[in-house]
Amino acid sequence: MTNQHEHWTATGVGDQRARTAIVTGANTGIGFETAKQLAALGATVVLACRDIDRANEAMARIATTVPGARVSILPLDLGSLSSVREAAEQFRAHHDALDLLINNAGLMMPPYGKTADGFELQFGVNHLGHFAFTRLLLDLMMPVAGSRVVTVSSNAHRRGVVNFDDPQSQRRYRPVSAYAQSKLANLLFTYELQRRLATAEAATIAVAAHPGGSRTDLMRHSPPHVRFVVSRHTRPLFSWLVQDASMGALPIIRATLDPQVQGGEYYGPDGWNGFTGHPVRVESAARSHDRQTQRLLWELSERLTGVTYPFIQEAA
Ligand SMILES: NC(=O)c1ccc[n+]([C@@H]2O[C@H](COP(=O)([O-])OP(=O)(O)OC[C@H]3O[C@@H](n4cnc5c(N)ncnc54)[C@H](OP(=O)(O)O)[C@@H]3O)[C@@H](O)[C@H]2O)c1
Repeated sequence: MTNQHEHWTATGVGDQRARTAIVTGANTGIGFETAKQLAALGATVVLACRDIDRANEAMARIATTVPGARVSILPLDLGSLSSVREAAEQFRAHHDALDLLINNAGLMMPPYGKTADGFELQFGVNHLGHFAFTRLLLDLMMPVAGSRVVTVSSNAHRRGVVNFDDPQSQRRYRPVSAYAQSKLANLLFTYELQRRLATAEAATIAVAAHPGGSRTDLMRHSPPHVRFVVSRHTRPLFSWLVQDASMGALPIIRATLDPQVQGGEYYGPDGWNGFTGHPVRVESAARSHDRQTQRLLWELSERLTGVTYPFIQEAA
């Protein structure tokens, strides 16, 4: 909790033992730290991951640091709509309700590639996979008091434009633009989802967060000199630019658990340019609030995934 002189921490968010959270991409980086901190607060945490060996390692690491942690694994490849459907079905087979969905998984600037369904990788995994996964779980959340869909965006959204003429970068693939587009899509999705949930008078809210610059595996496709800058070796030199993943996870934890948070808000670090620091409410780029773009992206996402949200209609 926080007052105007203190930094927000998860101390005081209350007992989370009655709550169940799914964290996508929880085997490493921000997702792992988020899952670990939620488990430490008592929540039942489902690690939704594509690599089961890595997910098992992550589960073992959480069990070591959080004795008694209630953690399980859900196989999920966001680059395959059939995997997304199977994951949702598997979750539903064991749970009647879901409190917290954290859409965290992502990849950044890989060489051009396609998902199993033919979508450009970053648009497909970072946005479309989560668009479908959220839909397939949302009815388990909508009656649950305090339930939240938290989607992880990035400062990179500020450079993003949704290229409706070529959303899959078929004509021209620019890795940075495709990443920025996907991260802008995370915000456009959150704001449209929130408006629809509010219209439906659902108990669920939709919130976004970003981790600033955090030391994770996200740079795995970046050139060596970029990876060096964000490595542990340069920690003192670049402390204004990059922080440890445990700190980067805090805006996501705040968006997920702080009782003060309202639907449609965005959280990130409070430092210079939002790179590092403590979690505060932040403002996203004007483009992310454009309702026409939100609506068009929603329709495009429904068309591409074949997944619709009939129970939450477009807001007036
Ligand atoms: N680190 C930063 O500075 C930073 C800044 C802004 C925003 N973000 C955002 O934070 C989120 C987490 O990134 P991170 O920094 O923690 O990166 P990371 O360490 O590379 O973790 C990414 C996670 O996403 C998973 N993932 C990738 N493709 C997947 C797929 N097809 N299906 C399911 N899971 C998949 C990865 O699984 P594998 O390990 O199996 O690949 C991994 O668990 C991303 O949305 C990213 O855009 C990060």
